[in-house]
Amino acid sequence: MLNLSNFSSFFVANWKLNGNMAFINDYFDALNTKSQNCVVVCPPSIYIDKIKKNQKNIFAGAQDVSKFISGAFTGELSAEMLNDMDVKFCLVGHSERRQNFNETNDNIKLKIGNLINNNIIPILCIGESLEEKQNNKTTEVLTKQIKEGIPKISNNENTIIAYEPIWAIGTGLTPTINEIDQIHVKIKKIDDSLNNYKILYGGSVKSSNSKVINEIDSVDGCLIGGASLKIEEFNNIIS
Ligand code: PGA
Repeated sequence: MLNLSNFSSFFVANWKLNGNMAFINDYFDALNTKSQNCVVVCPPSIYIDKIKKNQKNIFAGAQDVSKFISGAFTGELSAEMLNDMDVKFCLVGHSERRQNFNETNDNIKLKIGNLINNNIIPILCIGESLEEKQNNKTTEVLTKQIKEGIPKISNNENTIIAYEPIWAIGTGLTPTINEIDQIHVKIKKIDDSLNNYKILYGGSVKSSNSKVINEIDSVDGCLIGGASLKIEEFNNIIS
């Protein structure tokens, strides 16, 4: 498993259901590989083997993993298979999977365990909806997602958390700098064991706001969707 303390910041590109072979070639021809930060590119799984990782600061990530280890589960990919393909990180519990694919905290807990057992660092995505935010339920929602989703085997060396308010994903809206800081600090206080976890922020990160977001003490990097598909934007963000 990668040593997270080798890096001070993490930038994770979540391509979602986008990209093709030509896109990947152009992307990696242009990617700034000199960044001092940990850069993780999560393409659709079928392209994972095509990601030009360098074992130093550019790594391949997956967008999801099966909760099962092996067997008659058509269409699934196991943590062991991802490890075989040299995947170092894997998103778990992204809100799009929670909303569209019935992802539950129970499943998430199994997935995180499988990943850690296969030397892959899970990036647990948590976040509240706009309605939950408006009803002052943010802390309650995040606490439940963390308490029910993180298995005992997790610790600050093998698991990362990404705070992604659902209302900020793909909308151009972001919380204020103060709000991000307060929520990250609160997450660390949900349980004593969370104090030293790396916590990324995600939701409408782009080159024009990534610098101020990353300057927040409690932010250890960003999870980037839309802006990670534009290589100039992504290069600006990671450098
Ligand atoms: P966005 O997506 O950067 O396009 O808002 C972030 C994410 O869904 O991880």
